[in-house]
Amino acid sequence: MKKLLDLITRTMEDAFDDLGYEKSYARVTVSNRPDLCEFQCNGAMALAKQAKKAPLEIAEQIAGKLGDNALFEEVSAVKPGFLNLKLSKKYLADYLKEMAQDAESKRFGCERVEKPQTIMIDYGGPNVAKPLHVGHLRSAVIGESIKRMGIFLGNTMIGDVHMGDWGLQMGLIITELKQRKPDLPYFDNAYGGAYPKEPPFTISELEEIYPTASNKSKTDEHYKEKAMQATYDLQHGNRGYQALWQHIIKVSVDDLKKNYKRLNVSFELWKGESDAQPYIPEMVRRMKDGGYAYISEGALVVDVKEETDTKEIPPCMILKSDGASLYNTTDLATIVQRMESYNPKEIIYVVDKRQELYFTQVFRCAKKTGIVGEDTKLCFLGFGTMNGKDGKPFKTREGGVMRLETLLTDIEDKMYEKIISNQDEDKKMDDEEAHTIAAQIALSAVKYGDLSNQASKDYIFDVDRFTSFEGNTGPYILYTIVRIKSILNKYVQAGNDLNGTYVGEAHSESEKALQLEVAKFNGVVESAFAELAPHRICAYIYDLANALNHFYHETKILAETDESLQKSYIALLNLTRGVLEVCIDILGFSAPDRM
Ligand code: ARG
Repeated sequence: MKKLLDLITRTMEDAFDDLGYEKSYARVTVSNRPDLCEFQCNGAMALAKQAKKAPLEIAEQIAGKLGDNALFEEVSAVKPGFLNLKLSKKYLADYLKEMAQDAESKRFGCERVEKPQTIMIDYGGPNVAKPLHVGHLRSAVIGESIKRMGIFLGNTMIGDVHMGDWGLQMGLIITELKQRKPDLPYFDNAYGGAYPKEPPFTISELEEIYPTASNKSKTDEHYKEKAMQATYDLQHGNRGYQALWQHIIKVSVDDLKKNYKRLNVSFELWKGESDAQPYIPEMVRRMKDGGYAYISEGALVVDVKEETDTKEIPPCMILKSDGASLYNTTDLATIVQRMESYNPKEIIYVVDKRQELYFTQVFRCAKKTGIVGEDTKLCFLGFGTMNGKDGKPFKTREGGVMRLETLLTDIEDKMYEKIISNQDEDKKMDDEEAHTIAAQIALSAVKYGDLSNQASKDYIFDVDRFTSFEGNTGPYILYTIVRIKSILNKYVQAGNDLNGTYVGEAHSESEKALQLEVAKFNGVVESAFAELAPHRICAYIYDLANALNHFYHETKILAETDESLQKSYIALLNLTRGVLEVCIDILGFSAPDRM
């Protein structure tokens, strides 16, 4: 379906054109004075000088032209030259009827893009053997939502978790394990047989081993050297270490998958930094042959500064002086790999915004050296820090790094208490249901709390606010959906059928306001994806939920005796519920039937 705003603009353009005015002045926007009108066009004012006429005169001419157009209920020219528009109730109702016909497919009038593209999205970015902490939350939550938007619009989206599974942390774990269990066959160079299938540690042990080793290496030079040597050996074919490394990955990935599942986040690809390593030698050779890479202070670098830079962009380092590769090298080789395997039109990186300069270097280097061609876009979506109420990065009460699992469990517990204490005596949930629903609401609180902020901004993770059933929160949105579901249920239980309903012309201001909100759906999803901005969808569903609740408070729905009017109300509620549910699905959470 065409976007409502586009349809209005088209009509306005025709009116301008008919009167001999340039179409480009016919831009229509949603009104910033909803008390006066629903849409507005300010073009007459901009046009006045060129047309050598008073703005009001132009506006009046246009209003005259559009006066009996079926799209509008009212077109008025007001001083000094505004055009105030009110949409025809019939036109709006017909638009919603068409949206509702598209309910089966859950598209509600939102079309797929004409040319679907393959877009890769690099998000999550967990590090093997280290537990997920709240810093990884944002990447997962934002990335998942952007991926879902892209899929909804018909693109092929390939999400890659891009694990940190290469480098010193592996050497550290191996070194620590060797000290603790030197008799394991992995450490016996003379051993030629098969290694055990079972890993020699559990995830909890691994999560303890890594920080212990990391701390030791900070104070003990000798220990650190050993870890570096182990890393080198691992990367250069030590059989035992590689077998051990496989165990580390397996144990970590199983645990990561469990955690992401709880967040309703999933990845098409479970690639890691290690997967890019085989692409490095050839990539480096080409960079050298192409004359891009040169030796500077022993290291191999590529210049990436540009004339228009206002701040200094240092060269991109490809290999250290000892020949070792870096985070850079891996990211570049990963792009080589991605281009070879999927030839994407775009790669989006959802990473902490403090890595912005780094990605500027990597992207420029990839373009300059021809790893990606002109028609592949590399896009950095940097997110801000999640802070505690004190404005400092979110920590545990003791001041330590907060594990994602702990955060989720705390919020689920809080939600559980809330549900239990709010329950009606006669409709008590059993414990299992209460826990399931608590988890569902908790997820909405965490995700909406994050996504409702512009990604690049820091935000304060305020548990009390995020878990509230009122205000701009996930639970409020869920509460609104549950409210609609309960009305629809009662309607059906009274022997009615939802299928026989259709949206009719609005009878009240609040009903029309709700209809207008519903009609914005396709436009919002499109622009949210174009801007990679899940917060636009949050802002929309908050407005939509408010419009719904306003309508609900002003209207008797189940008690309405005019049957056709009631049907129309029910159809509108049903459509609102559908749109809200599609939107929260895009945001990556869902609503229960009761709460
Ligand atoms: N593992 C990294 C970290 O924890 C994030 C990875 C981001 N993605 C990338 N392609 N570099 O900081």
